[in-house]
Amino acid sequence: MKSRSGTAAVLVVVSVAAGLASAAPRPEASIVRRQASHLRNGGYDFIIAGGGTSGLTVADRLSEAFPTKSVLVVEYGDVEYAPGTFDPPQSTWGSRGPTATRWSIFSQPVPDFDNKTASVFAGRVVGGSSAVNGMFFDRPARQDHDAWAHAAGGSEKWDWNAIYPFYKKSVTFTPPSAVTTQQYGFTWDTSAYGTTTPIYSSFPDFLWADHHIVRDAWRDLGAPVLRECSSGDKTGLCWIPLSQHPVTARRSHSGTGHYLAIDNTTRTTYDLLVKHQVVRVLWPKGKPKSGPPIVEVRSVADNTLFNITAKAEVVISAGVFHTPAILQRSGIGKPSVLSPLGIATVLDLPGVGANLQDHTGAQLAWNYTLPLNFSTPLPDRLVTDPAFLADALVGFNETPARGPYTLANSNSAIYIAHADITSPARVRDLVKRIRRSIGDGSAAATLPADYGDDPALVAGYEHQLEVMAARFLGDPAAPSLESTFASGTSVRLIHLHPLSRGTVRLNATHPLELPLADYRSGSNPFDFDVYVDHLRYLRRMVATPAMQRYGAVETEPGVGVQSDADMVAYVKRVITLSFMHPCCTASMLPRGKGGVVGTDLKVYGAKGLRVVDMSVLPFLPSAHLSALAYAVGEKAADIIIKEWRR
Ligand SMILES: Cc1cc2nc3c(=O)[nH]c(=O)nc-3n(C[C@H](O)[C@H](O)[C@H](O)COP(=O)(O)OP(=O)(O)OC[C@H]3O[C@@H](n4cnc5c(N)ncnc54)[C@H](O)[C@@H]3O)c2cc1C
Ligand SMILES: *[C@@H]1O[C@H](CO)[C@@H](O)[C@H](O)[C@H]1NC(C)=O
Ligand SMILES: *[C@@H]1O[C@H](CO)[C@@H](O)[C@H](O)[C@H]1NC(C)=O
Ligand SMILES: *[C@@H]1O[C@H](CO)[C@@H](O)[C@H](O)[C@H]1NC(C)=O
Ligand SMILES: *[C@@H]1O[C@H](CO)[C@@H](O)[C@H](O)[C@H]1NC(C)=O
Ligand SMILES: *[C@@H]1O[C@H](CO)[C@@H](O)[C@H](O)[C@H]1NC(C)=O
Ligand SMILES: *[C@@H]1O[C@H](CO)[C@@H](O)[C@H](O)[C@H]1NC(C)=O
Repeated sequence: MKSRSGTAAVLVVVSVAAGLASAAPRPEASIVRRQASHLRNGGYDFIIAGGGTSGLTVADRLSEAFPTKSVLVVEYGDVEYAPGTFDPPQSTWGSRGPTATRWSIFSQPVPDFDNKTASVFAGRVVGGSSAVNGMFFDRPARQDHDAWAHAAGGSEKWDWNAIYPFYKKSVTFTPPSAVTTQQYGFTWDTSAYGTTTPIYSSFPDFLWADHHIVRDAWRDLGAPVLRECSSGDKTGLCWIPLSQHPVTARRSHSGTGHYLAIDNTTRTTYDLLVKHQVVRVLWPKGKPKSGPPIVEVRSVADNTLFNITAKAEVVISAGVFHTPAILQRSGIGKPSVLSPLGIATVLDLPGVGANLQDHTGAQLAWNYTLPLNFSTPLPDRLVTDPAFLADALVGFNETPARGPYTLANSNSAIYIAHADITSPARVRDLVKRIRRSIGDGSAAATLPADYGDDPALVAGYEHQLEVMAARFLGDPAAPSLESTFASGTSVRLIHLHPLSRGTVRLNATHPLELPLADYRSGSNPFDFDVYVDHLRYLRRMVATPAMQRYGAVETEPGVGVQSDADMVAYVKRVITLSFMHPCCTASMLPRGKGGVVGTDLKVYGAKGLRVVDMSVLPFLPSAHLSALAYAVGEKAADIIIKEWRR
């Protein structure tokens, strides 16, 4: 059997990843400056606020490029073992098992969903959300980036062709063995990936017996079968790799790849301060043009506050909730939002904490009325067959790892354009009605009161709606619906380009704690038209020959649910308000359209301050966000390095 590891470079890092995988003792990183008393005198050239997915990517690249400049990452969490989403001891499909440290955020009640609350996590650990996520490692479509570049304007390009090299650079993909490939039919194109960065992407060694039923059903629905979905074109049926090591099958995240894997005998300028919270940034002469700013830091352990000086730049990478919180505590935001909090506005940028979006969606469920008499296992074997479970545990710890525990969540997905979901007349009508809502002001009326009164934010929102209408719903090659599957009798329907917008605001009484996330899902009623279209389309799966072979019958929403009104009621009942892909709270848009950063990621009106994380997206792409968070980190680092080499 051909080795799955491929290159020597892969093997070098196996020892690091394998060391991480053992539960105790806690891994020692190669770089040991972890306490405040270890910090360098005289400050740092670059300070990164937040050691997460994008932040550690930037820190690694800057310290690699500039051997004589110092880089400090300040991270709220600590270096912790980060289990995968399906690592033992889980023995029932779908349970979550132990997790690395994370924040658990409950949104404000969402009025258009019967006051339900979105539940969303955010990583609080070295590695950030990449260390706690679902390990589904897909990339956006080219249309997502082209629309982003169109919306952002500016001189630095974020279109697909400009960012694709950074996607390639950001991750090393290792093909599965010939045996696994033949057994499951995995396909890929290695030209979509790089070969040196120790962030790993691979397929599992195992799939459950029923995985092909739903793939076949999607094919019966007409989804084109794609060989590789990471190279820009992903409208069709995809195999999705996992963010895990090809040999150990352990989670690969920015903490392992962009911190622990680095050799500190050659890289002596990269420091990490853990268990410290960046409170805010302050300007040496009080004015944001007098930057780079000073970084005020709080010890999580004993609450002491101190300042760290940046000589070149400060990069805020604290994630979609905490980045706008740091900016707001720094007096960067909308004056009418800041003044009730007792914060003086230093820089008037109304887009800070605006434009919150997340992927949402309903589900479809069915029962099989004929037996699934497969010769290979279904997930219940882990529960009903002790010998199978024992072998699964042994296999997970072999080198290479094998068996069910190499599986994370899902490996299969479809991405379907709205033109293939509903009739051309319905698409045209939807586009027309969205455009009319821009012209007559009814779209702006759906915005939150504390930002609907700002002309720049309204202009930015209306501009985004035009993009949603023309470049997403109206483009027959742009995905509108995602559905994923691994095993079982239900699939999720993920609405990829929501039209509603929410906010992130400081908690007035506890400004250092979690900010308030007001999701406002469904506040733009066109989202419900999209949910209904998605549901009408996907429920046709149950009638496909692939599923009828096993006598499938729809159980949710159930054949009684047919009218638009009944479908909306169903969606409201079962909605998942967060698939954990919040974004866009410090958007890259023109300043006159409510943008917070320019295409160079610099905060408008400030010197020496950038934002680099999922806050900078203008709107959600047709993908889960971790691959994008790495690519944004890579491209940001490239921009910063070029600037400081000049
Ligand atoms: C539970 C979950 C499941 C997900 N599933 C998937 C998936 O399957 N596939 C996928 O592609 N994407 C998934 N995502 C989304 C993806 O992982 C994130 O969008 C992405 O990792 C975010 O990267 P980021 O750099 O913006 O922020 P993060 O990676 O979250 O990094 C922010 C960092 O800043 C730190 N921090 C915050 N505030 C401060 C402060 N004040 N001072 C210092 N440090 C601070 C945090 O501790 C964290 O380490 C999931 C996310 C979650 C939470
Ligand atoms: C490098 O890492 C090793 C192992 O953690 C540690 O003992 C050593 O002090 C570190 N060296 C530097 C220069 O930080
Ligand atoms: C949601 O909460 C608001 C405010 O408490 C209330 O006015 C409204 O009636 C509630 N809606 C539903 C559907 O319960
Ligand atoms: C940090 O610097 C600011 C601005 O110079 C100053 O006002 C503040 O007191 C300093 N904080 C600490 C804890 O030294
Ligand atoms: C499964 O059942 C079908 C009838 O439902 C039968 O035709 C087929 O041979 C069975 N396959 C196995 C592997 O038992
Ligand atoms: C603010 O934070 C405090 C402390 O965590 C919490 O009790 C309170 O409910 C929060 N405020 C709001 C509006 O959620
Ligand atoms: C589907 O199967 C489940 C479990 O076997 C059963 O409880 C449920 O009643 C079935 N639903 C329908 C609509 O047949």
